[in-house]
Amino acid sequence: MTTRPVRIGIIGAGFSAHFHLASYRKVYGEAFEVAAIAGRDPAKAAALAAQFGIPRQYASADELLADPAIDIVDLCVPNNLHVPLVLQAAERGKHVICEKPLGGFFGPDGAGADWTADGYSRAAMLDAVTEQTRAVEEAVARAGITFCYAENWVYAPPIVKLNRLMAASGSTLLRIQGEESHSGSHAAYSRRWRTAGGGSLLRLCAHPIGAALHLKHEEGRRRDGKPIRPVSVSAQVAKLTAIPSFEAEARKHIVTGWEDVEDWATITLAFEDGSVAQLTSTDTRMGGIRNYIAAHGSKAVVTANINPNTTCQAYTPDGAYFDSEYLVEKTETKEGWSFPAPDEDMVTGYPDELRDFIGAVANNRAPRSDLLLAMDVMLVIYAGYLSAAERRVVDVLPYLQR
Ligand SMILES: NC(=O)c1ccc[n+]([C@@H]2O[C@H](COP(=O)([O-])OP(=O)(O)OC[C@H]3O[C@@H](n4cnc5c(N)ncnc54)[C@H](O)[C@@H]3O)[C@@H](O)[C@H]2O)c1
Repeated sequence: MTTRPVRIGIIGAGFSAHFHLASYRKVYGEAFEVAAIAGRDPAKAAALAAQFGIPRQYASADELLADPAIDIVDLCVPNNLHVPLVLQAAERGKHVICEKPLGGFFGPDGAGADWTADGYSRAAMLDAVTEQTRAVEEAVARAGITFCYAENWVYAPPIVKLNRLMAASGSTLLRIQGEESHSGSHAAYSRRWRTAGGGSLLRLCAHPIGAALHLKHEEGRRRDGKPIRPVSVSAQVAKLTAIPSFEAEARKHIVTGWEDVEDWATITLAFEDGSVAQLTSTDTRMGGIRNYIAAHGSKAVVTANINPNTTCQAYTPDGAYFDSEYLVEKTETKEGWSFPAPDEDMVTGYPDELRDFIGAVANNRAPRSDLLLAMDVMLVIYAGYLSAAERRVVDVLPYLQR
C-alpha cells in the first residue's frame, strides 16, 4: 500500500484526455494527484494543465515517462501508440491506464503513409495482433506493474446493475446482445486503417464486445473461479455509405468519406460454455448515440441502456432554445423530443473506472477491467476481420492460448 497520494501522468491532450481529467474530478475516496501532462501539441496540453490545475507539463511522452515521481501513466493517445507506450511504461516500472483498444494493426513494417488495408491479409493482421498481446502480457508480468484497461462499459452503472442482477439470480447468461452506434466519427484519423487500425468494428464495437466478454468472464469467475472465454467468431462488415443511391443524395446527415475501413459491422461470439453474444456497431445511425447491452439469462432478462435512456426526456419546438445547453452525444438536432443526459460521464462509467484503477494501484490489487479483457477484445475483433474477409467462422481459442 502506498503511503502518499498516487501520482498520475496523462499522455495526450485531446478528446479522451479532457474527459479523463473531468472525470478524475469526480473520483472520491482515493488519495491521488494528476501531476503531469504531455501532449504532441504543447498549446493544447498547456490549456488542459491550466484548466485542471496540473503542475507539470512535459514536451514529450519520453520525458513524462522519465519522471520518477509518476506512478501511473494514463494513455489518452491514438490507438497506434498504445502498445509502444505500454511497453515503454512497463520498462520504466510505471503502472498503466490504457484507453481502448489495447492496440491494433496499422500496416506492415515499413509501410508508407499511403498504405491501404484493401486486399491485405486479415490472417496476417490477426497474427500480428496476437504477437502484440503476447508482448504486452510478458512486459507487464516481467515489470510487475498493474495494467488497467479503460473499458468504461465495465463500470457504466446500468451494466454494473445488469451484472449484479445476473449474479443475484444465479443466471446462466445464454445470450447477450449489444450495440454502440452513432452518425459517424468526425476525427480524420478514423477514415483510414493506417491510422485507425480498423473501422466501426474496432472503434465502436470494442465497447459492447468488451462488456459482453466482461459479463461472461464475471459469470465464470463467480461460478467456477475462472473466466468463461470466447471460442469462435463470425462477423460481417460493410460500407453502407458507399450504397449508390445514398451517395447520390445531395443532403447528408451522417458522416461519409470512409476510405479502406467499414462503417458497419456485426459480430457473433460463441463462448466455451455454448452461450453466444450478438454485437453490432455502425457509424451510420442517426438520432444520437445508441449504447446498450441486453442480457438474456436463464432466470432474468436485463437491458442496460447507457444511451439513450429515459432519466430525462425533453421537448422543444425549436432547437435554438437549447443552444447554450449540451444534450447528449452525437444528436443531429435538438428539436422535438430528446433524451438529455443529466451526467453523461457518470452514466458512461468514467469516474468509477478511474476510481477503480487508482484503488487497484494503491492497494496492489487487480482492476475490474484488466489485461485479460483487453487481450480478448483485441483478438476477437481481428478474428472478426478474418471471418468477414473469408466468410467463415474463425476459431479464436488457439490465438487466445498462443
Ligand atoms: N472510452 C471511450 O469512450 C473513448 C472515447 C474516445 C476516444 N477513446 C480512445 O482514446 C484514444 C485517443 O482518442 P482521442 O479521441 O482522445 O483522440 P484525439 O486525437 O482527440 O487526442 C489524441 C491526443 O494524443 C496526442 N498525441 C499524438 N501523438 C502523441 C505522442 N507521440 N505523444 C504525446 N501525445 C501524442 C495528440 O496530440 C492528441 O492530443 C483512442 O485510443 C480512442 O480509442 C476512448
